[in-house]
Amino acid sequence: MAGLLFPDWRPRPPLHPVHLDWLEGAGVELALLRLDQVDALVSGNKWFKLAPYLRQAAEQGLSGLMSLGGAHSNHLHALAAAGARFGFETVGLLRGNEQDTPTVRDLREFGIQLHWLGYAGYRERHAEGFWLPWRERYPQLLPVDEGGGGLPGALGCADLLTALREQLSELGWPDYDQLWAACGTGTTLAGLVLGEAGAHPVVGALAVPPGHGVEAMLPRLLTESGHGDIGYRLLDASRGGFGKVDAPLARFMADFEKGCGVPLDPLYTGKLLLALHDEVVAGRVPRGSRLIAVHSGGLQGRRAMEERLRPLLS
Ligand SMILES: Cc1ncc(COP(=O)(O)O)c(C=O)c1O
Repeated sequence: MAGLLFPDWRPRPPLHPVHLDWLEGAGVELALLRLDQVDALVSGNKWFKLAPYLRQAAEQGLSGLMSLGGAHSNHLHALAAAGARFGFETVGLLRGNEQDTPTVRDLREFGIQLHWLGYAGYRERHAEGFWLPWRERYPQLLPVDEGGGGLPGALGCADLLTALREQLSELGWPDYDQLWAACGTGTTLAGLVLGEAGAHPVVGALAVPPGHGVEAMLPRLLTESGHGDIGYRLLDASRGGFGKVDAPLARFMADFEKGCGVPLDPLYTGKLLLALHDEVVAGRVPRGSRLIAVHSGGLQGRRAMEERLRPLLS
């Protein structure tokens, strides 16, 4: 068994100012930290969450990573693409029964080994001993929780603050007033809160409805990091459910892309920016504020949503 080599790749997401009427009307400036632009395939927040696990695997002489996700998973997509690109082994444990989606077709092409767990099997993913049979089967792989969650994933995202700080002056901004990001597990937000260490207010837009784990995950990760529960604010951006899309969201995404050329995904970044828009137009963001929002990618998952979004636009 050959151990993997940690790849020499340090992606630097660009900071991209956006100009839209509703921002101008409210006297608010916005820039996006474009993680969607770090790579066409290893896109979004995924590499930042995976890199610390990959480093651990390399240090332990392992040959790759195994993880979990659904048939549209951005996380498995990036994991499989990274494995193919950098030459490490990957295994994906999938929710439900075998399906054919654009994501699954890509996964097969990237060469990740797939196992379908059914719905009941997938529900066991948090149970003690879940990983045991998989570790026995793949002793050469490091297990990574769903979505690249956990403290190593969060610490990988804390590095995003470096890229952000390095580019502020290029934007001509002496500073910013708020940092916004979408939350699925809360891992990315925990990393941003840790990286900020109280320097700027951090706002998390919940892509999953309140009470589905993020509120518990954030204090757990922050406490585990030894920093205690540093402040942040959570907003419900889920529009009634993870995966729920409606006409205002579809219209907002289309207008956003038309207005500034930046594509959004409907599950995370579309909901994040719609929640930010609603706060701005309601006058809850002081005039003169400079906001940063993290574009965490997810565009590959948009392919399967197009058919649901299109009718909402008519
Ligand atoms: C595109 C995208 N943005 C944001 C998130 C949320 O990240 P986290 O799970 O770290 O809260 C995810 C996945 O979880 C995602 O796929």
